[in-house]
Amino acid sequence: MKHLNLTTQIEIFDSLDELNSTEQALVNAAEKACHKAYAPYSEFNVGAAVLLENGQIITGSNQENAAYPSGLCAERTAIFYANAQYPDTPVTSIAIIAMNKNGILENPVAPCGACRQVLLETELRYKKAYDILLVGQSSIQKIKSSKDLLPLSFVGEGLLKSADRSPKSNN
Ligand code: THU
Repeated sequence: MKHLNLTTQIEIFDSLDELNSTEQALVNAAEKACHKAYAPYSEFNVGAAVLLENGQIITGSNQENAAYPSGLCAERTAIFYANAQYPDTPVTSIAIIAMNKNGILENPVAPCGACRQVLLETELRYKKAYDILLVGQSSIQKIKSSKDLLPLSFVGEGLLKSADRSPKSNN
């Protein structure tokens, strides 16, 4: 038997002031987007802001539905919109923030598994790792590759058209 030890790299910041001005602007955009969520069922608002290599910031928020599984998380709303509008433009970073009726969450929000899968495919698609900023009141986590958020992920190996989705690139 062998053991596989996985490591996850996370940079932790105590406040927004420790981020550079581009990152601060992205976090502010995510917070604004959070207020635009449609979340009447969970009353849990999530905002995501995606910075593209062309300088554009695309935002998204969670969009719920009475048929619960039909709703979509903020991260996927933002990334899919960005990729749909700018299919040839890589993502440079994403900031994610969440609030409930008590305000912005104390701890950084943790993206759901489905969103992690989409964050990962965006990295593979553009062959470029990008920063993921998970924002909370008391700290901000910076993750420099979605592979750190989703180790041992499904990368399409075995799909007929998966030629350049090498599992070797997945830690
Ligand atoms: N949600 C997100 O938008 N992103 C996440 O990463 C976690 C959960 C949304 C989905 C749903 O509208 C609400 O938060 C409660 O789960």
